[in-house]
Amino acid sequence: SASVSDELTAAIRTIPDYPRKGILFRDITTLLGNAKAFRQAVDALVQPWAGSKIDQIVGIEARGFILGGAVAHQLSAGFVPIRKAGKLPYETVSASYSLEYGLDEIEIHKDAIQPGQKVILVDDLIATGGTAEAAINLLRSVGADIVAACFIIDLPDLGGRKKIEALGVPVRTLVEFEGH
Ligand code: PRP
Ligand code: MG
Repeated sequence: SASVSDELTAAIRTIPDYPRKGILFRDITTLLGNAKAFRQAVDALVQPWAGSKIDQIVGIEARGFILGGAVAHQLSAGFVPIRKAGKLPYETVSASYSLEYGLDEIEIHKDAIQPGQKVILVDDLIATGGTAEAAINLLRSVGADIVAACFIIDLPDLGGRKKIEALGVPVRTLVEFEGH
């Protein structure tokens, strides 16, 4: 029978030239809409920490929210959102990161994590790692103990995994795609 990684790969749809010419967009909506694949993805992401005490799952807006909620439930942990700037109502800590053109900014509520809490960062995909690096900077600034960063998809040619591992954060991914 096919491996979980093969089944998840088959459940992800690839759209050529979206959002612009030359980009192969990896669309996880087909995985999320496939009951078996969605469960397999969540179970496989958390498998190294099943039964261990994780305080908070931190999901990155927007696609990291979908997985992060399911992962938090599976590990009986809390869920904490990292949002794009201006979306959180209370006092925040923020971090900027580079996009292909210009800068973007993400935020976390300053009291969302208690110092020393064990957290796992969750997002759908790691590409350059810029988003995850900014999230790690935010989490460290509020005193989180980052156990790992987990993603369904790794685009290894873009170097994000190496960037995050160089920050001392273990990375778990389930599926790899070559190219950008
Ligand atoms: C995508 C993806 C990751 C990020 C990865 O999110 O969901 O969050 O890019 O890229 P990086 O490793 O190069 O930083 P996007 O910013 O498109 O927003 P969305 O999740 O709100 O759709
Ligand atoms: Mg995203």
